[in-house]
Amino acid sequence: MNLELLNLESVRALYIVSAVLFILTLGGLSNQKSSMQGNMYGIVAMSIAIFATVFGPQVSSNYGLLILLLLLGGSIGLMLSKKVQMTEMPELVAILHSRVGLAAVLVGIVNFINPIQEYFGIEKTIHSIEVYLGIFIGMVTFSGSIIAFGKLSGKISGNPLALPAKHYLNLIMLLIVIYYGNEFVSASDINNATTSLTVMLIISFIFGVHLVAAIGGADMPVVVSMLNSYSGWAASATGFMLSNDLLIVVGALVGSSGAILSYIMCKAMNRSFISVIAGGFGTESSVVSSDIKEQGEVQAIEIEEFKTMISLSKKIAIIPGYGMAVAQAQFVVSEIISILNKKDIKVLFVIHPVAGRMPGHMNVLLAEAQIPYDIVFEMDEVNDDFDNIDLSIVIGANDIVNPSALEDPNSPIAGMPVIECWKGGHTVVMKRGMSTGYAGVENPLFFKDNTRMLFGDAKESLSQLLTLNN
Ligand code: TAP
Repeated sequence: MNLELLNLESVRALYIVSAVLFILTLGGLSNQKSSMQGNMYGIVAMSIAIFATVFGPQVSSNYGLLILLLLLGGSIGLMLSKKVQMTEMPELVAILHSRVGLAAVLVGIVNFINPIQEYFGIEKTIHSIEVYLGIFIGMVTFSGSIIAFGKLSGKISGNPLALPAKHYLNLIMLLIVIYYGNEFVSASDINNATTSLTVMLIISFIFGVHLVAAIGGADMPVVVSMLNSYSGWAASATGFMLSNDLLIVVGALVGSSGAILSYIMCKAMNRSFISVIAGGFGTESSVVSSDIKEQGEVQAIEIEEFKTMISLSKKIAIIPGYGMAVAQAQFVVSEIISILNKKDIKVLFVIHPVAGRMPGHMNVLLAEAQIPYDIVFEMDEVNDDFDNIDLSIVIGANDIVNPSALEDPNSPIAGMPVIECWKGGHTVVMKRGMSTGYAGVENPLFFKDNTRMLFGDAKESLSQLLTLNN
């Protein structure tokens, strides 16, 4: 059965419509207000892309298998989206990146064994380079994303793997890949080409593992967006192999937006991109340092005293962190905002660019709880204004409010901009105990004179504030 409804021109026209919609998707997703619309553009763009591909001239048989796989993939995606908690999103993103990488590897291998057409001369060289590069980027994305998944889900240690001469190791692996790339492109028979490809596959797998394993906990946000970028380039390379313009464009969009995001994240953490990729920052000094013991005792606060403190405040800053996501406390926070508004207490939210476990994590949670956008501020907008803030309430955040980033040059997070809430009147930190945050670094904020600790699950503690009216 041949269901070829569209000719090549119609497919190209639909691909252009789809590419424009994908660009509008990215534009929409850059802002919370337009993000729903951006998502809709994305859904329509993807539907057009699938329709044009399936009913275009490149597919002329096996429709049953295609539909079966579409249904299978779609159902798995739907199931995951319903099942996965917001806190597990970064792991999900990482494992999905690994699938994009694996797809690029498989398409590359199939294209090598059975090219869509026969190439000669310079075309053959270009095609071989496309295949080799596509498989290389795909394999690095695949193995790197698996390690990122392991680290983010806590299945493997977040500590950076510091092998001796690790930079040379990376360099040697890259040189081997380049050498065999040359062998692959100039190979006169299939056996030599297969050998080169096999060696490259093994080396690039190890390269991806080592690249991500060497990066420590504190720098993982950049790794997530970097792998996002790699997955885009892998898809783009697949587009070149399949001569599919849309895949090239969309892959480049994902690749470049991921690269821009990595740059923004590096700036937010005051890291140079190269030093992150070279690896090694993170949790090396995550052990409790002797200085911490000298910091004295933390001062706990009980809920009734906290209520009084809130009632006496005119302006309150709420600083959410990963713990708010774990506790799913955003809805209670929203209820508390309404109560405070009635009491004429001004409230604002301060968001750190790497709060939580993925870019925009806190913004998504706050939007989910219908918190108005106009009271949500970026860290830089508020940091100089803490003098005017009577009370900062830190909900399950740790690294993003750690003064040692500014005060201790030996801290693993030294130089990372943080929310400087200790410069305000009082700070109350809500967390369950004294455990460290993601970067594994102790936090001197907890020991400051104007800081009090409200121990317990953030949602449970916040629920007790709902009686603030009475
Ligand atoms: P963290 O530094 O990870 O601190 C979260 C704190 O929440 C923990 O210290 C924990 O202390 C507390 N907590 C956990 N569950 C809680 C609950 N149910 N109720 C109350 N508190 C709870 O988080 P952060 O301040 O948001 O900083 C983010 C960190 O993640 C940074 O180091 C960042 O680099 C990293 N990271 C970010 C990203 C992106 S892109 N945003 C990606 C990967 C990693 P207790 O256990 O004592 O309660």
